[in-house]
Formats: sequence, structure tokens, C-alpha cells
Amino acid sequence: MTFKTKFGALADHQKGRVDVIDDDPRNYVFSNVFDVASRARPWERVCVAKNFEYVIEAVRASGESPFWTARHDEFVLCMDGELTVELHKPNAPIGGAEARDGAHRLDALPSSKPMGRVVLQRGQMALLPKQSAYQLRAAAPSAAIIQTIEGPETIFRWAEICQTDGASASRPASPTRATALDRALPLQTRFETGAADADTGYRAFTVGGFAFERDRYFAYVRHGEVRHQLPVDAFLRALMRDVAWGFFYGTVNFDDVLGTTNFYGEVELFLGAKNESFVRAGRDVTERFASADLMKTFKAILADWTNEGFDPFAAPLETTAAFGAKHGSNAKAIERERVSARRMVGLPGDTEVRSDRTGYPVNRMFEDVPQHQPTVEVEPGFEHEVSGFNLFSYLSRSDVTWNPSVCSVLRESLFCPTSEEYILPIDHGNDRVEWFIQLSDEIVWDVKDGATGRPRARVTMRAGDVAAMPADIRHRGFSTKRSMLLVWENGSPQIPDLIRRGEAPVVPVRF
Ligand code: PHB
Ligand code: FE
Repeated sequence: MTFKTKFGALADHQKGRVDVIDDDPRNYVFSNVFDVASRARPWERVCVAKNFEYVIEAVRASGESPFWTARHDEFVLCMDGELTVELHKPNAPIGGAEARDGAHRLDALPSSKPMGRVVLQRGQMALLPKQSAYQLRAAAPSAAIIQTIEGPETIFRWAEICQTDGASASRPASPTRATALDRALPLQTRFETGAADADTGYRAFTVGGFAFERDRYFAYVRHGEVRHQLPVDAFLRALMRDVAWGFFYGTVNFDDVLGTTNFYGEVELFLGAKNESFVRAGRDVTERFASADLMKTFKAILADWTNEGFDPFAAPLETTAAFGAKHGSNAKAIERERVSARRMVGLPGDTEVRSDRTGYPVNRMFEDVPQHQPTVEVEPGFEHEVSGFNLFSYLSRSDVTWNPSVCSVLRESLFCPTSEEYILPIDHGNDRVEWFIQLSDEIVWDVKDGATGRPRARVTMRAGDVAAMPADIRHRGFSTKRSMLLVWENGSPQIPDLIRRGEAPVVPVRF
């Protein structure tokens, strides 16, 4: 079987859309990079995603750009065609650009030294280093996105680029989120590990008032009268993410009943707390733990319940089953280090590009993805700043699914691309807005209300599509062909409290 990876292009892109169940499509700020770029004038920097001060701009590249400079790093990802990035180091600091974030247009190239150049083709990314003067060139119309901060060059035209049709007649306001601030649950300190079961071989675990057990097919979670079960493969896939991501942002729903909410240092474990019926009936239970304590038990459950051959990070077609009585273990799969670039993948001393040599063969569904690295010409002394790598190759070689890894970092603006197949193992209830840019193929997102679980929308994303996920929803993605997704996070620790106090909106922009 050979698979065809679908990328988008200026001249050839099929947009997905927001199909509302009970919502307003404006909340998803849904646009498409190729659509925006194809309708823009050359070198306009049109904002397609915004999270507080951070933005992603879409650019139609054609001919020569102005010279730009910024006091912070920026990153450019070629989405279609070919782009040359020329970098220069000014001999003196540039007045206006040092006073304000964002890219600043220069009237002309200031007196400077050449740093080098990077030639980018589709899927390749380069650093636009802080305090450089850069110019982009494209011999034929091309498209790019830039990870940067809002500045004088950023253009906003939301109403023209975003889907506005299809709102439901009346959307009930979601319940207030201000619960966690109001109460301080005591920290639970009871943690127990049972003996291996004589029949199945698995251990039982107790954390606070919660009991965890598994058998050949199911995981069981009990708290007093409240009993719950879920398929053990789904449980382990969700647990794997909760462990690997340090309880992630906001709420990790394993399903409609069981989950954790991250308070960064402390964490709540619950049954039914994000389920309207449980809450209404008073059947929900929540307990709070020091994160390090709950993490220790979660790691122990994951280690004991994961059998030889089962990889909770792998697509179902690339692993054996999770089921049956205990047989062996898979420490290698569950102890993978999370990859996180400090500045950008491929920079000297930063996280490495992936290759056959480093143990990352191309995935069976990405065999058609070009693997060459961008052309980089560096003047001596600028090796740490003139750099690029092939992001699409990097993603085509991921050995895991639904596991974003930080690839470029601008302060709290984190590009976290990932490769996806089958179903996101958690129903993620974020505590902030996050953004998706679909880089290849298609993902469908089921979106529900974060607090109640009521269905709100179904979002279909195809190559080039951009969508915000509001801070009051939960979402779960479905990808039938392995696909590439750029998850864009604002990691600022202030955001959850701003939103809980109602001082920041749950949507990134209003238009
Ligand atoms: C998300 O919750 O937004 C998320 C998590 C993991 C992924 C993709 C998206 O791989
Ligand atoms: Fe999410």
C-alpha cells in the first residue's frame, strides 16, 4: 500500500470548515493560509493566528521583500514554492525596532555584515535571528507563515479571511469557570500499591480516595459509591499523555468521566466533575494532590499495566494490543524523553534533526514526503544563527502519534508540531486558547463544552487550515491517514488565572 500525503498550495487547496452544533464559527477564527496568501499583496504580513501579543502571519512571497528587523527571534516556514532568506548583521542597533516588538520595515539595508542565506522549499523552516536585517525573495509566487510578535507590519483582516457563516440560532452561555479559584481542596497524601492479582497479574493502586484496577480488557476507577470503567487501551493511551506532558495544559479528560486538571505544582483528579449529569446529580468527586505525588503513582500504573509489545504512543496499526493477562513490560516505549527545542530544531547544541542514522525511519504513510534539508550558506561566525531544517521530514519520521514536540521557541510562543493517526487519546479541555495549523492531510475535531461536555462544533481541518480552540471547550481529533499538525501554544503561566477571573476572554479575537 502506498499513501499519498496531501499538502496545500497557493493554486491548489481545499478548505475544511466549522460545522456548528451549538456555537458561533467566529469563536474558531477559521481561515486557510493558502487562501489568505493567495488573496494578499506580495509581502503583506496578514495575521492568521493571535494569542495575546504573539502572532502567526501568512505571507504571499513574490519577488523581493522589504528589509525587516525585529528585536526578538522570528521563524519562517515555507508552505509552498521556494523562498530565499538573506540575513545581514547591522553594524549598529536599529533605533525604532529596539523599542517595540514585532517586525519593523527598514527603508534600506543598513550598514551591515552578510550573515548568510537559507533557501527554503515546502515544509522547511528557518530562524530569522533577533537583531538581524533580513530580506526574503521568491522567484515564483510562494507562501509562508512567520512565527512572530504583533508589530507595525502586522495586518488584521479577520472578517475577510475567517468563516462567519453557520452560527446556531442561540448558543447558551457556558457556565462560569470560576470554580477552582473559589475552593482550596486539601492535598491528599494516601498512596498504596497492592499485590499482583493471582489471576491477571496486575497490581491495584490507591491514590487518596480513588482505587485503580485493571483486568484483561478494562481499567476500573472507583471512589466510594462512584464506579467507572473504560477500555484499558484507551486508558493507557490517555495516561501516557498525562504522564509524558506533566498533566499538560488545563484538563486531560480520559473520557467523559475520568480526568485531571493541572494547577501547575498541584493537580486535581476527578470522576464526573466535567460531566453535566454527574455534577447535577451530585455524583462527581474531585481530590487534589501535589503533582509530583500523583505523577509517581501514574508512572507506576503505566509501568505495571503496559504489556510487552504495547506502545501507548503508537498508532493502533503499529503496536500489539494492550489486552490480556500481564505479560512482560515496555519500559522503552513509556519512558521516551519529550523532545523540546530551546530555540529551534537543528541549531548547534539544540535538538537534532531526525534521520535514519539517528533511529527515525520515515513512517509508512509519509514515504512520499521529500527528505532533503534546506540549503544553508553561512558566513564564518554566524553558525549559531543562520540555520534551517526540514520540518515536514522531521514530522514524517516521528515514531509516535499525538505527541507534540516543541520545535521553535519565541519567549512563550511555542510551535509544537506533531504527527497524528487514529484518535487523540485525550479529550483536551484547555485552560487557555490554543491554535492549530493543519500542515498535511485532514483531521476532524469533535468540540464539546469544557465544563459540561455538551457538543458544540465539528471542525474539519485540511492542509493550510488555521483554527483557534477557545479556552472554554474540550476537543478530540480524528485522523484516518497519518497527518501533520502544528499545535501552537502560549505557555505563559499567567493565562489560566486571567481567564478564570474573567480578565481575559476565552476567544483570541473578536470580529
Ligand atoms: C491538543 O490537545 O490540542 C493536542 C494534543 C496533542 C496533539 C494534538 C493536539 O497531538
Ligand atoms: Fe488541546
